[in-house]
Amino acid sequence: MDTIVSFTDMNKHFNEHHVLKNINVQFNKGETTVILGPSGSGKSTLLRCINLLEIPQTGTLEIESLKVDFTAKLNQKDRLSIRQNTAMVFQSFNLFPHMTVLENVIEGPITVLKKDKTKMVSIGEQLLEKVGLLHKKDSFPSQLSGGQQQRVAIARALAMEPKFLLFDEPTSALDPELEGEVLKVLKALAEEDKSMIIVTHNLNFARVVADRILFLENGEIVFDGKTEQFFNNTENERINSFIQSMQFI
Ligand SMILES: Nc1ncnc2c1ncn2[C@@H]1O[C@H](COP(=O)(O)OP(=O)(O)OP(=O)(O)O)[C@@H](O)[C@H]1O
Ligand SMILES: [Mg+2]
Repeated sequence: MDTIVSFTDMNKHFNEHHVLKNINVQFNKGETTVILGPSGSGKSTLLRCINLLEIPQTGTLEIESLKVDFTAKLNQKDRLSIRQNTAMVFQSFNLFPHMTVLENVIEGPITVLKKDKTKMVSIGEQLLEKVGLLHKKDSFPSQLSGGQQQRVAIARALAMEPKFLLFDEPTSALDPELEGEVLKVLKALAEEDKSMIIVTHNLNFARVVADRILFLENGEIVFDGKTEQFFNNTENERINSFIQSMQFI
């Protein structure tokens, strides 16, 4: 399996608070990794360190042939090169309200990647079709349900052709019946072997889509392994009690 993202001995502090502790982890091409763990364990921070929305104090990040050492000052060129490898989908969609659905999807590739507009319109329409929203291409975000807005945000992330897709609780702002339509899109992407890292509290979803689970607690990776192993991990009391507590909410 090709590794394309890895952290070595990575530490992240927020002032005196040590939020990620000596993280050593690899993310592989074509794999869907789900990050689980209690609130405050560092899941979002870990995800945000991959695209440098947060900058660790020590350790290294490698994305394919790029390597940054966090003890040195990060230059703008490296920062941009790292960022171009990933696209993040947030809990709160973050669409541009004054742009139509199609414009939202193709804006990044045209302005950032300098892609041809006519070509992008056609690609954008294909991506909207993929997330089941081609019929909404001329609508504005405010005219869409939360689930539809999140599917547009996914199409927008795909339009940037990132090597890795990052999702931070992509369905936690949605009603349960809208959650399903977003999870179906993510499941289809996982089946296409897209490279994805997903933070979620939805264990049933994790069980179905994840090739691999990372379980974080107090800023440490307590489990890193196959999904089946995680859910059948009867010896690890901490994991068992986490799974149990999530199932009886
Ligand atoms: N910008 C920040 N400034 C200071 N502390 C922060 C900041 N962001 C996160 N933290 C702290 O870092 C720790 C990890 O936060 P993080 O958001 O990564 O947790 P999480 O696992 O994503 O939690 P949740 O499941 O609630 O989203 C928490 O104690 C949080 O309070
Ligand atoms: Mg979080």
